[in-house]
Amino acid sequence: MLSRTILRRSIVSAPRSIVSRSRPLQQFRFVSFSQEEQPRVRIGSTAPNFQVETTQGPIDFHKYIGDNWTILFSHPADYTPVCTTELGAFSNLKPEFDKRGVKLIGLSTEGVDSHNGWIKDIVEVETNGKEFSFPIIADGKKEVAYKYDMVTEEDFKNLGGENKMIATIRSVYIIDPSKKVRLIMTYPASTGRNTQEVLRVIDALQTSDKKGVATPVDWTVGKEVIIPPTVSDEDAKAKFGDFRKVKPYLRYTKVD
Ligand code: BEZ
Repeated sequence: MLSRTILRRSIVSAPRSIVSRSRPLQQFRFVSFSQEEQPRVRIGSTAPNFQVETTQGPIDFHKYIGDNWTILFSHPADYTPVCTTELGAFSNLKPEFDKRGVKLIGLSTEGVDSHNGWIKDIVEVETNGKEFSFPIIADGKKEVAYKYDMVTEEDFKNLGGENKMIATIRSVYIIDPSKKVRLIMTYPASTGRNTQEVLRVIDALQTSDKKGVATPVDWTVGKEVIIPPTVSDEDAKAKFGDFRKVKPYLRYTKVD
């Protein structure tokens, strides 16, 4: 059984009700949280750097990334049911992420002690006793939530407020070894993510990078890929050998 009273309450669709219980003011706030100063994180942006405490000690995010692919993903709050299932599933998939050279790092806006207590529950109910496999950021100061815009419109307005417990939404940032943001997914708090989709898009990004191709709808490894329209038929023949031309702009081929 997950231990905290929060899980004994009936949780419906309002994430704020999950986190509005009173709690001590989190540490000193770090910035103004003004909309004007907030970084715009787009595909192709350098992932904003930050220094923060995690369940595996303090990190500098860019140093943590090193020269790996990295997935940064946020969770509304500790001891919440959907996040418990997600974190367990991502931890169990560590071998799949390792195979792809991908590091994981989670985030929730509570402290390391709270995260560590929650991890014990996750290990109990989701990983079958296996060690939890990646750090969770303690973003009590909301620095990362602000920099990456991991909050709803309403919570953004309250970010700088005193005694306000802010629930982050379910954001996923896929960052490449050059520290560029390559893919962003944003889910509301009530909707759990799909681990297979996260693995699939990593495969798609890495295949596109390695082979100079695009990937069609519902693509998975082994299926035909698309030759970009910028490649002429002659160059496509030289580069890929055979290809299937459905339209001048829609050409399929196979890659290993
Ligand atoms: C959660 O488990 O994180 C959650 C559940 C219901 C609504 C919002 C969040």
